[in-house]
Amino acid sequence: MWLKAWKQNKVDSDDQVALDRLPRHIAIIMDGNGRWAQKRALPRSMGHRAGVEALRKVVKTCSELGIEVLTVYAFSTENWNRPKDEVGVLMTLLTEYLRKELNELHQNNVVIRTIGRIKDLPLDAQRELENSKKKTRDNTGLVLNLALNYGGRSEIIEAVKQVSGDVLSGKLGIEDIDEDVFCQHLFTHGMPDPDLLIRTSGEMRLSNFLLWQLAYTEIVIIQELWPDFEKKTLLESIKAYQKRDRRFGGIHTD
Ligand code: FPP
Repeated sequence: MWLKAWKQNKVDSDDQVALDRLPRHIAIIMDGNGRWAQKRALPRSMGHRAGVEALRKVVKTCSELGIEVLTVYAFSTENWNRPKDEVGVLMTLLTEYLRKELNELHQNNVVIRTIGRIKDLPLDAQRELENSKKKTRDNTGLVLNLALNYGGRSEIIEAVKQVSGDVLSGKLGIEDIDEDVFCQHLFTHGMPDPDLLIRTSGEMRLSNFLLWQLAYTEIVIIQELWPDFEKKTLLESIKAYQKRDRRFGGIHTD
């Protein structure tokens, strides 16, 4: 449905995104919900609520464009350090989002996946995630990859433990460990590395996000706060990405 609508309307007339050179995987650090609320003298929870709206629009646009994977940093391992109420709001918003959006996401062929330690999330959220993943697992469109209770360092340590276990049990020889083997033990196994990382609200940090996977990713920093992020902002970010000269550590020989 979404994809069809996009093709019928073509792309907005001011848009110059090259549809044949799209990033396969876009990762987003959705930063600035709190500041957005503060600027309006609203509680932080309202900022997060507005953040969900921005997320809905971005998912739709990525799906319409034909992006393969969209990974969003929805809750980091460090976010447990926020006040209990705020953590509760974020978990409620996640559960609400899945309950309200699942049918539309499914109708639009979206696959829901997660990265992070899901088992430590509240049971309600775990149940909704399980149901959403099960319902959408045979879809073939956009993979909406929710990073929840995710931390890049702990992901790497977990992978090291698994690989070491395979070596100790004799399933794997030390000489057989390479990048491909290692990647199979990361939460993102089977997904391409992000081509484009977008971070909003002007911050220039990775904040423990996808530390392994971002090795050659192009980074676009947006000054706007996440709740103000619109379809136009996404298209501008993709255009900026398409102007980059990606050499992956090599040089051009032509
Ligand atoms: C950062 O803003 C944002 C987060 C910690 C959470 C992002 C969550 C959402 C957009 C909504 C919930 C997600 C889903 C999947 C329904 P901040 O609070 O750190 O902002 P600040 O730096 O301005 O305080």
